[in-house]
Amino acid sequence: MTELINEVNRRRTFAIISHPDAGKTTLTEKLLLYGGAIHLAGTVKSRKSQKHAVSDWMEIEKQRGISVTSSVLQFDYSGFRINILDTPGHQDFSEDTYRTLMAADSAVMLIDIAKGVEEQTKKLFWVCKKRKLPIFTFVNKIDRFGRTPFDLMDELEKVLTINAYPVTWPIGIEGNYIGIYNRLTKEVELFATDNRRGQKQLLSTKGSLEDVKMKDLIGPEYYENLLAEIELLDMAGDSFDVEKIKAGELTPMFFGSAMTNFGVQAFLDKFLELSQPPLPRVTKNGFIEPTDENFSAFIFKIQANMNPAHRDRIAFMRICSGKFEKGMSVYHVQSGKEIKLSQPQQFLAQERTIVEDAYSGDIIGVFDPGIFGIGDTLCLSKEKLQFEDFPVFPPEQFARVQPKDTMKRKQFVKGMIQLAQEGAVQVFRQPDIGIESFVVGTVGSLQLDVLEYRLKNEYGATLLINNLSYSLSRWILGEKKDIDAIKGIDNGMLLVDTKDRPVILVNNEWSLNWLIERNPNLEFLVVPTDARKI
Ligand code: G4P
Repeated sequence: MTELINEVNRRRTFAIISHPDAGKTTLTEKLLLYGGAIHLAGTVKSRKSQKHAVSDWMEIEKQRGISVTSSVLQFDYSGFRINILDTPGHQDFSEDTYRTLMAADSAVMLIDIAKGVEEQTKKLFWVCKKRKLPIFTFVNKIDRFGRTPFDLMDELEKVLTINAYPVTWPIGIEGNYIGIYNRLTKEVELFATDNRRGQKQLLSTKGSLEDVKMKDLIGPEYYENLLAEIELLDMAGDSFDVEKIKAGELTPMFFGSAMTNFGVQAFLDKFLELSQPPLPRVTKNGFIEPTDENFSAFIFKIQANMNPAHRDRIAFMRICSGKFEKGMSVYHVQSGKEIKLSQPQQFLAQERTIVEDAYSGDIIGVFDPGIFGIGDTLCLSKEKLQFEDFPVFPPEQFARVQPKDTMKRKQFVKGMIQLAQEGAVQVFRQPDIGIESFVVGTVGSLQLDVLEYRLKNEYGATLLINNLSYSLSRWILGEKKDIDAIKGIDNGMLLVDTKDRPVILVNNEWSLNWLIERNPNLEFLVVPTDARKI
């Protein structure tokens, strides 16, 4: 038992959320560098793979190893076992990104000092906020000219409605910061640079703000300025409140430069201290504690055909309680079957390793014989454990897809069904029509590109794609006759999802409101609950 408690307490599982180009890859590399997992930054992913052109992304997908590697990275630092979950942004943005956040216990929000809160950051932030995840803010690129720290604090408050407690504060003026002041330790750290873009760790000069030597190093102008700013923060800003941080109501804020390593270690140390070990998880029958000895886990990501030669399918699971041991058999709640988890793997930088054991908070990938689905529960015995449902994200873009070559219909249907199970896209069909064509719903346009690419490469089916003008979907609850009555409406399309639950697609809010007003007997839901068959 004490072994389990110790292992759980030293684990930190988090996701870095940011808009593309804010520096997520660079920061991740630097965390690995400080963790001793790599010795020279620039080795995790080739920079080229980070360019976001669709064609490059396809290249990455072709070399599945890379995108898998980046799904989760594990390393040890200062007694902690750290799991970083990858949340791709930009065009790679998809439902997958949202779902990954289900596996995290906290989030690090990375912000570019010049750009502030950007679109993708906002979307991811709201998902974290909804889950009440503790959120830590790292303002990156302070080696460059950018916005003032006060301005950024203000933006967090106005745009994201979260107050910030700056733990570190930059010393100097925009574009010329020479160091940071840590408000909790009252220590100053001055910037060291070697013009090698932080490939290696550099020793910075540290000391107390009271120290006369420090005062000299900072210089009188910056020193006075710093004192004034800190006084203002202490007086007018929020006070440090661990409970608010835990509840995701206050974000500890840090400043630094991932590229030059500046402020990275100060951030990592404080983050590990302030963030929490794996949290209890909600099941349909109450909470399950991470220190509960009975193993339990849920699946949050499935990736098929990672290795085209083997056609394998890997299910990523987040362990929620107990200890996992290699070769262990577990009960898969959704299928009611006992399953031996084969080839359990963990990922570090470019390597995959076989897992001997793993604990609550860890992420492992297992071979999926084709039975797992997103959100499925695995546990030790036939106890009726089931984790809360995974959020379904309302799709925003829709398209009708059908096979170009009708001879390939079988492959097309197989591919669509498998990719729907994997959660790559949401799949709908018209209830009266067979499965010659499907309507797919996505939250980002790349999801459709990926579908097209994968159906061709993995199933040999080329697609005819017709984009539809709908932008909203609602699951419908109600009597069959009332649902049937809206079948032929203008500006809308009635479909069923993969579980035969009725869904309506409409063009805009106006059409939706019109529909709601005229159908008082029906309920229109943003996400599905158990609905009746059409
Ligand atoms: P991402 O994963 O969030 O998309 O961002 P990534 O780390 O790839 O960084 C995006 C760009 O920002 C990169 O420049 C990177 O070097 C730069 N960058 C990251 N952190 C810092 C920082 O602290 N300061 C400065 N000045 N730049 C930073 P790039 O031109 O796209 O690539 P490269 O040619 O520099 O490798």
